[in-house]
Amino acid sequence: MQTHLRGRDMITTQEWTKDEIDTVLEVAFDLKRRRALGEPHPLLRDKVLAMLFFFSSTRTRASFEAGMAQLGGHAQFIESKTTQIAHGDTATEIGQILGRYNDGIAIRQVDWGVGNGYIRAVAEASRVPVLNMQCDWYHPFQILADLMTIIEKKGDPRGLTIDVSYAYASSYQKPLSVPQSLILLATRFGMNVRLTRPPEFKLMDEVVDQARDNARRSGGSFEILEDFDEGFRGADIVYAKSWGAMLTTTDEEESARIASRYTDWIADERRMALAADDAIYMHPLPADRNIEVTDGVLDGPHSAVFDQAENRLHVQKAVMALTM
Ligand code: CP
Repeated sequence: MQTHLRGRDMITTQEWTKDEIDTVLEVAFDLKRRRALGEPHPLLRDKVLAMLFFFSSTRTRASFEAGMAQLGGHAQFIESKTTQIAHGDTATEIGQILGRYNDGIAIRQVDWGVGNGYIRAVAEASRVPVLNMQCDWYHPFQILADLMTIIEKKGDPRGLTIDVSYAYASSYQKPLSVPQSLILLATRFGMNVRLTRPPEFKLMDEVVDQARDNARRSGGSFEILEDFDEGFRGADIVYAKSWGAMLTTTDEEESARIASRYTDWIADERRMALAADDAIYMHPLPADRNIEVTDGVLDGPHSAVFDQAENRLHVQKAVMALTM
């Protein structure tokens, strides 16, 4: 267990050692147990987290805010559009100033080509830890919650096969952050990772290279498939969700047109039957129901989506209690 994480940023799990991530999981399981028992755990009494959102959220906002209250502190909800950012407040100024009012700064900025750089610029200027609530490249807290859920449902993740798959959605062109963070973390924990996606829905080369390297070091494996059904076959975990064709086009309408070639990439009961008998289906939500995934899968016996959503609370509390 690592005990020197005070002051650390969480921008991508790739920048934390496996020991450090094991510590986060250990603390998250303890905090989950303490909450279930009704044991108060005011580990961040009088501390304040700034939560700066450039994009909408249900789970992330609600779980960070609830988590800070349960830890005895407070969370400030700040929407970029009601700040002076549009009138000139720079990332450096945000890091300097919010860092002097608060004990941590959490940011969601998912604009392609902007988000990660913005969060890193704030972190550079901030005297307090910066937590990535999702950027264009990474969604570390989602994936920590996903790993916690996999451990709860399946035990030791080593040797499990996870299908990290594209699925079609029509609502909007979703960031690459979930599949990218997922292939990075799953390969570090010795899982056999299948990245299944149409050719236009590639992930970033540097992330794919890191995932391959992680797999080589952990004794897991990493492969890329382009056949949606093949990805499901025999998988222990099916994580099928949509993302945009950002590396093919930066034009959202063009990305939507490309995606419309793949409307048959829907996670449905026939495909889930190709997976292992005790497979679980995972999705970070929100999902396009009956477009991206059927109600039968999302609400069915294989679905782990509500446990995933709950575990956001516990992993975030763990990271905040360790770093702030
Ligand atoms: N999974 C997730 O991040 O949900 P929100 O976009 O609602 O925060």
